[in-house]
Amino acid sequence: MNRKKSLAAGLLFCTFLLSCCGCGKQQPEDSGKIQVGVVFYDQSDTFLGELVDCFRQQLAAYGDSGLEVTMMVRDAAGSQRTQDDQVKELIGAGCNVLCVNLVDRADPSEIIDLAREWDVPMIFFNREPVAEDMMQWDRLYYVGADARQSGEMQGELAADLILKDSQIDRNRDGKIQYVALEGEPGHQDAIIRTESAADTLENSGIALEKLGTGIANWDRAEAQNRMQQLISQYPNQIELVLANNDAMALGAIDAYQKLNYTDAALPVFFGIDGTKAGLEAVIDGELAGTVYNDKEGQAKAMARIAVAAVTGEGMEEIEFQDGRYIYLPYEKVTDGNVREFLLNGSGESSPIA
Ligand code: GAL
Ligand code: CA
Repeated sequence: MNRKKSLAAGLLFCTFLLSCCGCGKQQPEDSGKIQVGVVFYDQSDTFLGELVDCFRQQLAAYGDSGLEVTMMVRDAAGSQRTQDDQVKELIGAGCNVLCVNLVDRADPSEIIDLAREWDVPMIFFNREPVAEDMMQWDRLYYVGADARQSGEMQGELAADLILKDSQIDRNRDGKIQYVALEGEPGHQDAIIRTESAADTLENSGIALEKLGTGIANWDRAEAQNRMQQLISQYPNQIELVLANNDAMALGAIDAYQKLNYTDAALPVFFGIDGTKAGLEAVIDGELAGTVYNDKEGQAKAMARIAVAAVTGEGMEEIEFQDGRYIYLPYEKVTDGNVREFLLNGSGESSPIA
């Protein structure tokens, strides 16, 4: 063999080796296991903590039915950079499907690049990436709920109560003076919930006067602070508190308790989520109502997609919207039906549909 020929043969062999390795990017050996990685934006978030617990239960049920399933969870503690690194780490550790609760829903590009590069399907949940990002690859999914629906239901709950109970308009001026407690700016569930709740109230014929807004990032302690400021700005004027979630509604109640307000001098409070603490506050009559954010249904949908994406079986049976979205419906919770939710969640808790 002359030199030219042996060089050509060598090159051919290298090309063959490279093509066997699929560009060098390969996951550790496929073991038939479903190895689920979960990253979420902040473990101090009450609703997400409960949702991730439900998801763990759903996966455990698949485990009981004979599949080999593992789950690894990472908390980004509010940093997108940390989360990007956690995604790399989990892929390196052999995760073959990832569930991603973005820190910054407008910045998923690094994570999507990793997913595509390593061919790891991704289920975004609760914090919805924008549509253009979702279209970047065909193995991206989203599981969540429709923010507008939750705001409308909160508005309906508040309207029903205001129309029934004339005492809520405490200064009897024919208008309801209210404040809004909002989640993180830029989150799909924050502004939309506030706007649709207020629009629904007005469409039910209730005259509203907005006194102020407090941004409290879904957090009970922050909401207590914001509420204390609002109370001192509008002493005895607030008749209604619309909070974007239960944690913030409970923070608002904490603020009044700290100031030793009597029950008769309190405004009415509405939340969203139906967390354990939120439901208990409805039972105690502290929270006038909440809107159930169906964590059981969301966890169940995430588990079904994760299992189908890895095994290659059952994806056709899942009913997606636009091929990749699942939105679970919200439900209204009042003192009339709250006990059912505390006992059974949304009724979606039975695993594996
Ligand atoms: C919302 C939920 C909030 C908070 C937020 C985090 O859907 O109502 O309580 O958990 O998600 O993204
Ligand atoms: Ca009034």
